Amino acid sequence: MTILSNVIASQTDLHAQYGGVFPEVASRKHIEVIHPVIQQAMNAAHLGFEDLDCIAVTRGPGLVGSLLVGVNVAKGLALGRNIPLLGINHIEGHIYSLWLTEAVAEIEFPLLTLVVSGGHTELYLMSDHLQYQHLGGTLDDAAGEAFDKVGRLLELPYPGGPAIDQAAEQGNPRAFQFPRAGLDDSYNFSFSGLKTAVLREAQRFAKDRLPVSDLAASFQAAVVDVLVSKTAAAAQEHGVKAVHLAGGVSANRALRQAMAGRLDVPVRYPPPILCTDNAAMIAAAAHWHFLHGRRDSLDLDVIPGLQLI
Ligand code: KG4
Ligand code: ZN
Repeated sequence: MTILSNVIASQTDLHAQYGGVFPEVASRKHIEVIHPVIQQAMNAAHLGFEDLDCIAVTRGPGLVGSLLVGVNVAKGLALGRNIPLLGINHIEGHIYSLWLTEAVAEIEFPLLTLVVSGGHTELYLMSDHLQYQHLGGTLDDAAGEAFDKVGRLLELPYPGGPAIDQAAEQGNPRAFQFPRAGLDDSYNFSFSGLKTAVLREAQRFAKDRLPVSDLAASFQAAVVDVLVSKTAAAAQEHGVKAVHLAGGVSANRALRQAMAGRLDVPVRYPPPILCTDNAAMIAAAAHWHFLHGRRDSLDLDVIPGLQLI
């Protein structure tokens, strides 16, 4: 699959002012930038709207305001050009980000996909294209959410994930022994206890004496440990041909390294620009739906709590 253009209007700087995402601010910004972004993407791809076969858009899960902006603009484009519309699950987009950079023929099923993002930590077994079995997910904080919360308490810049990834480089991952929630060997995850443990440890130090790098490295090691051991166990149980990592946290260098070191099947992950949210991944998922004959109706609705299965 070839990416002709992938324009991203990041709101990170805007949200950094508040230390997190404000839904109202996010959707207002979406309205402002969506048309210029679409135009920019079309220009960069050297395409006209008459060259398009289909319009794909994120239907959910996500913030209702932002989803509404996207879906309504997509409906307008599909109606105006008389081409099909496809409402795509955001998580499925992350999963299909892997098909954007790998030779499609090389990807064989069954495979395991770990989606680790700001809102999700989910383990899926894929038996074929668009065929998922949900093996487990987070019971409380998502992995990215834990990174962001711990980043904030260590007073690192927003978003916490990349900041912790960087701070951890100078730290000792064994400086602090943080809990690894096993949850009785299920494929579910829990990160809120870990976050509280980091908070308790941090409170033992004067603010200007906080061992930020050691705390960051030890916290990251605990998250990586849990993600890797559960993924490795699932990979073995189901005899998969490969393990895919997707979502913002899959950009984490320690996670990539540990996963590749632990598994004896290929471990694949997208380049950092395709790990965090982007439009190309939504088009990639839509491509397979399109090939399988799916077409959505123009009265498609947003579903903020949409599940993959
Ligand atoms: O997939 P994504 O862009 O958005 C959601 O769908 O949530 O993921 C964003 C999350 C944030 O929590 C961010 O802190 C985390 O991905 N993240 C990372 C790294 N880069 C982004 N977490 C750990 N290490 C990174 N290098
Ligand atoms: Zn995402």
